[in-house]
Amino acid sequence: MSRKYVIAGNWKMNKTPEEGRELASEIASIISKDASVDVVVCPSFVALDRVSQAIEGSAMKLGAQNLYPKTNGAYTGEASPEMLRAVFAKYVILGHSERREYFGESDAFVNEKVKFALENLISPILCIGETLEQREANETLEVVKTQLLGGLEDVESQSMGNVVIAYEPVWAIGAGKTATPEMAQEVHASIRALLTEKYGEAIAEKVRILYGGSMKPANADSLLSQTDIDGGLIGGASLDSKSFCDLIQSARAAS
Ligand code: PGA
Repeated sequence: MSRKYVIAGNWKMNKTPEEGRELASEIASIISKDASVDVVVCPSFVALDRVSQAIEGSAMKLGAQNLYPKTNGAYTGEASPEMLRAVFAKYVILGHSERREYFGESDAFVNEKVKFALENLISPILCIGETLEQREANETLEVVKTQLLGGLEDVESQSMGNVVIAYEPVWAIGAGKTATPEMAQEVHASIRALLTEKYGEAIAEKVRILYGGSMKPANADSLLSQTDIDGGLIGGASLDSKSFCDLIQSARAAS
C-alpha cells in the first residue's frame, strides 16, 4: 500500500510573521510545484496570513497549531476553523503533548476539536504519545490506545481519509532523543492495528501515521523506511529551510 508521505513543520511559538514569510518562501522556492510529498508548515496564528501568501502557487500547504471548536463568539484568545479557512489553512495540529501538558487538554476536548475541524473541512493532525514515565512503566501501547480512540470517538469512517495521526513520544520531543526506528515502528503498527479494528483494513491502510520527536536529516531515512511511518511532524528541524528541505528529500526518496 503506498501512502503519500507528509512532512509537516510545527513551528510552535517561533517566527514573527516576517520571519515566517522568509522561511516559507525559501522552502517554497526549493520545492516549487513538486507535490510528490505533502509538505505542510504550521506557523503561529499571527503568521498564518503572511505565510499563506508566501506559499501561494507552490505545492506547500498551510496548517494551524490549534483551533477552538466553535464557529465564533466570546472565546477570548481563540481562533475558529472559519478564520483558519479564510487564510487557506488545510490542516490543524490537535492534541499536541505541549497543549495536553501546559493547557490541560483532555482526550474529550481534543475529540471535540477533531470533529469540529473535520466538519469544517480542515484536516486534523491528531498527536498522541507517551511520557518517559509511561514508557518505563510499560504503558506505551495503552496510553496510545486511549489517546487514539479518545481523539477519534464518533469520527466516522468516511472522514478518516482526512485524518492524519502523529505518534510523538513525549520524551523525544525537543530532547535530541529519538525513538529508534524499531521502537517507532512497533507503536505505528499498533496504531494501524487499532485503526483496522475500528474502521477496517481498507481505511486503516490509507491513514498516514507520522512520527514526531527530534526527527532530523540524520535520522529521517531510517525512520521513514519503516513500513508504518508515513512522514514526520517536525519541530526544531522545521525552523531551518535546509534541514526541512532535506527531510522532504528523504521522504521523496522513501516514496
Ligand atoms: P521536535 O518537535 O522535532 O522539536 O522534537 C516535534 C513536535 O513537537 O511536533
